[in-house]
Amino acid sequence: MCGIVGAVAERNVVEILLEGLKRLEYRGYDSAGVALLDQSGELRRVRRIGKVQELADAITAENGLGTTGIAHTRWATHGGVTEANAHPHTSTERIAVVHNGIIENYLDLRQKLSNQGYTFSSDTDTETIAHTVNEVLKTSSSLIEAVQKSVKQFYGAYGTVIMDREDPSRVVVARSGSPLVIGLGLGENFIASDQLALLPVTRRFIFLEEGDVAEVTRRSVSIFDHNGNAVEREIVESSVEHDAGDKAGYRHYMLKEIHEQPTVVRNALQGRLGDDDIASDLFGKDADNILKDVKHVQIIACGTSYHAGMTARYWLEQYANVSCNVEIASEFRYRKSVVHPNSLLVTISQSGETADTLAALRLAKELGYMSTLTICNVPGSSLVRESDLSYMTKAGAEIGVASTKAFTTQLTAFLLLTLTLGRYNGLTEEHKQNMLKGLHSLPAKLEETLTLSANIEMLAEEFADKHHSLFLGRGDQYPIAMEGALKLKEISYIHAEAYASGELKHGPLALIDEEMPVIVVAPNNELLEKLKSNVEEVRARGGIMYVFADKDANFQGDDTMRVINVPHCEPSIAPIIYTLPLQLLSYYVALIKGTDVDQPRNLAKSVTVE
Ligand code: F6R
Repeated sequence: MCGIVGAVAERNVVEILLEGLKRLEYRGYDSAGVALLDQSGELRRVRRIGKVQELADAITAENGLGTTGIAHTRWATHGGVTEANAHPHTSTERIAVVHNGIIENYLDLRQKLSNQGYTFSSDTDTETIAHTVNEVLKTSSSLIEAVQKSVKQFYGAYGTVIMDREDPSRVVVARSGSPLVIGLGLGENFIASDQLALLPVTRRFIFLEEGDVAEVTRRSVSIFDHNGNAVEREIVESSVEHDAGDKAGYRHYMLKEIHEQPTVVRNALQGRLGDDDIASDLFGKDADNILKDVKHVQIIACGTSYHAGMTARYWLEQYANVSCNVEIASEFRYRKSVVHPNSLLVTISQSGETADTLAALRLAKELGYMSTLTICNVPGSSLVRESDLSYMTKAGAEIGVASTKAFTTQLTAFLLLTLTLGRYNGLTEEHKQNMLKGLHSLPAKLEETLTLSANIEMLAEEFADKHHSLFLGRGDQYPIAMEGALKLKEISYIHAEAYASGELKHGPLALIDEEMPVIVVAPNNELLEKLKSNVEEVRARGGIMYVFADKDANFQGDDTMRVINVPHCEPSIAPIIYTLPLQLLSYYVALIKGTDVDQPRNLAKSVTVE
């Protein structure tokens, strides 16, 4: 989604801003822009529809120069994809603003500001910020005072950076609902919506908290909380290891990230998985004091992370004997729900900034959950800071919009949570030993599974002209079928639906014909025979099937059924293993279709608005 970069320095900041925007490109955007101030007091603004490179070319052509600047990648919410709607927005060529989030009362503000004589040159909600600050500045002694007064008029979510042509020595930033981080340099300071944007210039960050307004100059950062009190916020040394930087020779980030899975899962298990048990402090120092009393788990997430939660429910109930509900964050936050006694609220999120998941966490705290845990990939993110307990998935920066390695490390985390909660709820020794064995074998099994790549690439040819597809799984493979379907639709734009295969005769069987490929995930588990009956139902109706199966499952391939043998594995890790062929399938189908694999249309990486 939208990205923000800002800088106040002695040197020309254009390269810093553009590099920052490039590093945020993965989040998904449709236009980009930069506003620059230099000591001559001139405000220069360049905006372009399309890629950041087009903006960079335009700035080079204009010899863009500035020691203070703000920059933005926009993912359209209010107003179409036009240059006029691209950020930064200005007011009377004095105030320039970039903004992530949505100002929900923008229509009222627009009316009021129009009555005060302001002319709007875009359809955005953001322009109301620029004019409001400009207006309030008339009766304020400084830009920060004007911003502090202005934000009281805004309802909704914002992470915003504001600059005043009359004072190029500073910018003012405000955070409410959309993340902002201040990067500390030597004699220069920076702002961004994501620390990844600033890694080439600093590793020292201050994460602003909800309601903070801050003034950033070359040499100082002054932060005020929502009551206007001066506050100190912790300076954090970034531990982000992976630089978004390069594709390491792969054609797309997504393919690189698929192939990184054995390594990131190995890293995630290091120091956590022992020979005979798992470490006791995986979820925080005093976590066990809390976790020992947990009798129910409520999981909340969106998209792919939700599918990880769906899988976890099977594990938590089957192995750990702990009851579990899973819900999509945007549903949970707007309905009345009942809190079970001794209930742990678990949020899952790659980014840690998903607006609905964050809102659900805040609601859960009001509802009185016993404790909250987040399973997250981004240290310092809002979900991590606002949860009682946290577990870092250690997948490294995930750049491809379609989530891959974040998902498999989330599933790994849930196996560890299952072992932890199982300790206090009657996990059998046999299940425990099998799960430990599975986890020890996991990185190598993932490596082995990736060798299927060439076979799957060939198979993908058969999907290229299809418009619909069906994914089937049973038990803990049902959410994996859902994840496979999500991947295919996201990056190849082929309509894909997932069903628990026992549901076939209750409706979807009507769809089966030779134009509807049916993808089946079939490990050798206790549901195999049931699944085989479902496969026969499809075969009898002329469906073409692609069965990803354990070789001992004895599926016989023929004209109507392609069988791809997946390495045999311990049943508890099968959902993680079977995810990989489905990721590869969607990748190669997208490649043949020529879509923008890493930044599929209309999608954003971090969904910071609801
Ligand atoms: C799909 C995908 C999304 C995200 C969802 C939640 O490939 O990436 O469905 O999983 O937007 O995002 P996080 O995990 O950051 O909360």
